[in-house]
Amino acid sequence: MEGIEDYAIYAMDPNGVITSWNAGARRIKGYAAAEIIGQNFSRFYTPEDVEQGLPARVLQTALKEGHYDGEGWRVKKDGTRFWCNVVVTPLRDSGGNVIGFSKITRDMTERKILMDRVQQHAEELERAQQSLRRLSGQLLQVQDDERRRLARELHDGAGQILAALNMNLESLHDSILERIPPSMAQRLAESIRLTNQVIKETRTLSYLLHPPLLDEAGLRDALHWFVGGFIERSGIQTELEISPDLSRLPRELETAVFRIIQEGLTNIHRHSGSSKARIHLILGQNEILLTIADEGKGIPTAGTEEQKGGRKLGVGIAGMRERVLQLGGCFEIAAGNPGSVIKAVFPLALGD
Ligand SMILES: Nc1ncnc2c1ncn2[C@@H]1O[C@H](COP(=O)(O)OP(=O)(O)OP(=O)(O)O)[C@@H](O)[C@H]1O
Ligand SMILES: [Mg+2]
Repeated sequence: MEGIEDYAIYAMDPNGVITSWNAGARRIKGYAAAEIIGQNFSRFYTPEDVEQGLPARVLQTALKEGHYDGEGWRVKKDGTRFWCNVVVTPLRDSGGNVIGFSKITRDMTERKILMDRVQQHAEELERAQQSLRRLSGQLLQVQDDERRRLARELHDGAGQILAALNMNLESLHDSILERIPPSMAQRLAESIRLTNQVIKETRTLSYLLHPPLLDEAGLRDALHWFVGGFIERSGIQTELEISPDLSRLPRELETAVFRIIQEGLTNIHRHSGSSKARIHLILGQNEILLTIADEGKGIPTAGTEEQKGGRKLGVGIAGMRERVLQLGGCFEIAAGNPGSVIKAVFPLALGD
């Protein structure tokens, strides 16, 4: 034991007075044997620990429980502190009487500093994550508000002017039709047709930006309207199943579900190659379960070859996930057979 350098090993009498001292103790604590033998081991403790009676408690615990095992700050000869692991064991004679203690100390300062740094980084990461989450929540909110405003502006501004233009053209058409050559009448009729088309497109754009039905009639009607239009535009056979007992939900939840389905179907149209889509919105006991499934080529998930190959990560899926997490839910992309299934679970606040 004399020669061991990695551990400070020494013996004490029953009162904590040091009676032996090895090479490791000298190296770790800085005292030579002649300086320290005969002194009380409490001098290795910080003044705060001494004040709180820790050295005496260490010996009491060792006696009571057969050993003491702990970690803490201790003080070297030069006054610097080091973090160590300490084991104290009572020494007994053949009659079972305590004749002293052995103490093994290991310097763990480096590990302690490392652990503290890891802990500090983990806390920083947690804070950064929280502020990122707050920020993306705000971004989504701003995006929704902006879309709502744009939709209204389009509808009430350009939409109204176009409607007036259309009325003017129609009355012009009716009043001068007899007096103009057929080629001119044809151009006028064509202008009316174009105006009607742009009115329709403006209205569709406005409704897609923010369906008035979503606020007025709720998610169910807005989804039926949107899916109907989607089938018409995309030719994708889309099944929409909503629990019959699902009634109005909090506005942010309705918006989130609507936006997720909108993006899910847009993705199916743009990326999957599937000719079918299935949407289920199920009301559970305390949650809403949403699934969006297709039978296409499947969404490459994290870690797959295709994603490692540098597939561009879009805003769509990240936005879906963020909307779900903002509402305290879970989001998952699973493989379908074939195709893929997006699953989202939203908790319902009790009492809603
Ligand atoms: N239903 C799907 N089937 C197959 N691949 C999909 C499907 N949905 C998404 N993907 C793949 O995942 C990628 C990421 O989708 P995401 O919606 O995040 O971005 P994006 O649609 O490319 O762009 P945007 O930001 O406009 O949504 C897509 O580029 C596509 O490769
Ligand atoms: Mg997308």
